[in-house]
Amino acid sequence: MITDIVIGLQHGDEGKGKVTHHLLKSGEYTHCVRFNGGCNAGHTIYHNGTKLVTHHIPAGVFFDTTSVIGNGCVIDPDKLFDEIEYLESHGINVRDNLKIASNAHVITPLHKAQDGQDEDIGTTRTGNGPAYRDKYARVGTRADEVAELEPFIVDICEELSGDTVILMEGAQGFWLDPDWGDYPYVTSSHTGTAAAIQNGISPRSIRNVWGIIKAYETYVGAREFQPAGEVFETIQRVGKEFGATTGRVRQCNWLDVGQVCKAIHLNGVNRLVVNKMDVLREVNVWGTTDRRIHGERHFREHLEDEFNCTTGVEKIYFSDNPYSINEQNRLTSAA
Ligand code: IMP
Ligand code: MG
Repeated sequence: MITDIVIGLQHGDEGKGKVTHHLLKSGEYTHCVRFNGGCNAGHTIYHNGTKLVTHHIPAGVFFDTTSVIGNGCVIDPDKLFDEIEYLESHGINVRDNLKIASNAHVITPLHKAQDGQDEDIGTTRTGNGPAYRDKYARVGTRADEVAELEPFIVDICEELSGDTVILMEGAQGFWLDPDWGDYPYVTSSHTGTAAAIQNGISPRSIRNVWGIIKAYETYVGAREFQPAGEVFETIQRVGKEFGATTGRVRQCNWLDVGQVCKAIHLNGVNRLVVNKMDVLREVNVWGTTDRRIHGERHFREHLEDEFNCTTGVEKIYFSDNPYSINEQNRLTSAA
C-alpha cells in the first residue's frame, strides 16, 4: 500500500477536485477514496473539456479507477443515485468503478429536515451534521443496512489491502475541521490527514500529502469573513466565487499565511498547490492578510520563503488554470 492524500488547507473550495483529477491522469493509482463529508462537498472538475460537479463520488471514476466512498463519509442515497445518473449521462462509467465502505453512514430525510432547524451557522443544509451526530450517538444507519446500496458495498480494509496505490480525495478544508476550525462555524467531519488514514489506510503507507490553497481565501457560512473593500468584490466576481453545492456567494479575503503554515505542520504537507493565480493576476492586486505585495513575482517569492524551508514543503506548484497543475510553473526548493 502506497498512499497520497489531497486536502484543503483553507475553508474548502481550494481546488482539491481539480488536483485529484490531475494526479489521477498518471494512471498510477489503483484506488481513489473520498474520506470525509457528504454531499455538502462540491468538486468542480473539467474532464475532456466539460465542466462537471461531483458531490459524493470520487474523481477516480473519470479514469476507470476504482473509487471508494470511505467510512469517514456520510451518504445521501437519493443524491448519490442522481449523481451516478448525471455522470453516466456524460459518458462516465460510474457503476463498474464505485464502491462504498460498509461502515459509512447514511443521511436520511430526517437529517436533512433537522439540518434546516438547527441553529444557523450557515450549513449547506444537506443533512451532514445531523448524520454525524447520529453516528456518534450510536443510533445511525450504516451503508450496509440500505438495500439499494448493496451492489457497491465493500469491506474497505480488504479493498485497500495489498499491492495498492491509493489517492485520498478530501472534502471541505482544514479550517472547517470541528477541532481546528472556528467552532461552531465548522463542518461535522474531520478534514485533515488524520481523517484520511481512518479510512482503511496504514499510517506507514503515506508518501505525499498534497495541501491545496488558493492565492486568496474564500468562505461560505454565517460568520463574517470578508473585510470591507472593493477589491474583495472584484476577486469574488473575477474568481466566480459561488458555492458549487449551494450557489451561495463565497466571502473573500487575502491569504492567511500563518494559518496555512499551521495547517501544513499539522497535516504533514510536503506538496503545496497554490490555485487561481490567474484571478489575482487579472485583478492585479497582490497581498496576504498581513501585507500588500508588489506584483506576482514578489508574491511567489514571498510564499516560497514562507512555506518552503520552515515547514517541510518540498515543492510548490503555482496554478493558473482550472484544468491542471501547470508543471512548467513549478518552483522546486532544495529538498
Ligand atoms: P455543513 O458541512 O453543511 O454542516 O456546513 C458547515 C460549514 O461548512 C458551513 O460554513 C458550510 O458552508 C461549510 N462547508 C461545508 N462543505 C463545504 C465545502 O465543500 N466547501 C466549502 N464550505 C463547505
Ligand atoms: Mg467545493
